[in-house]
Amino acid sequence: MRASLLVPTAALVCSLAACKPAAEAAAEANAAPATPVASSATFGMTDAELIARGEYLARIAGCNDCHTPGYPESGGKVPKDQWLVGSSTGWNGPWGTTYPANLRLKAVDMEDAKWLEYSRTLHTRPPMPDFAVRDMTDADRLSLFRLLKSLGPMGEPAPAYLEPGQVPPLPFVQFNPPPPPAAADAQAEPVSGG
Ligand code: HEC
Repeated sequence: MRASLLVPTAALVCSLAACKPAAEAAAEANAAPATPVASSATFGMTDAELIARGEYLARIAGCNDCHTPGYPESGGKVPKDQWLVGSSTGWNGPWGTTYPANLRLKAVDMEDAKWLEYSRTLHTRPPMPDFAVRDMTDADRLSLFRLLKSLGPMGEPAPAYLEPGQVPPLPFVQFNPPPPPAAADAQAEPVSGG
């Protein structure tokens, strides 16, 4: 009984030892003609993997919140083919009024290297978190780009930026910071004194 139980175990050990190292086997599988090639320029990811990561980032890094009309209002239920076309809802504050760009049109005239350079050094007005895009890894920036390319161009360019003091058309979101504490105290004085 004991001996017969040991036989399959020994056979398993032998077959594992005869196996190629997992990495080598995986490399051979990737080299099969039907599999898209993952190179160092794509950070070891296939095109499908890059696009899937871009989709994940657009969901969790807030890109859809501003660049996809209706996304927050629908609880993130906007179909993917309508993503990232920009928005005509303005963001109004001390910087003027800005409009989330149509990122799908932005990507049209770029290739991987140009996008990486552009996004690595991205500087915009608020409330766009350009710092977040600059802080991403190149792999993440490329993933977002490949998502934009896979979605393809759609929609119109967002409305042009308006200088501070220019009244934007509706709809717009107003960033109206409360007065600094000193000014708030001064304002409150007559009330508490009276
Ligand atoms: C809070 C809203 C908001 C969020 C979140 C946001 N954006 Fe933006 N984005 C904007 C606005 C507004 C502009 C226009 C800024 C300007 O006019 O200077 C902009 C501009 C941009 C631009 C510049 C486009 C151009 O014309 O050069 C890029 C690229 C961009 N966003 C990418 C992203 C990505 C990628 C994400 C997710 C990581 C993201 N944005 C998240 C609001 C947002």
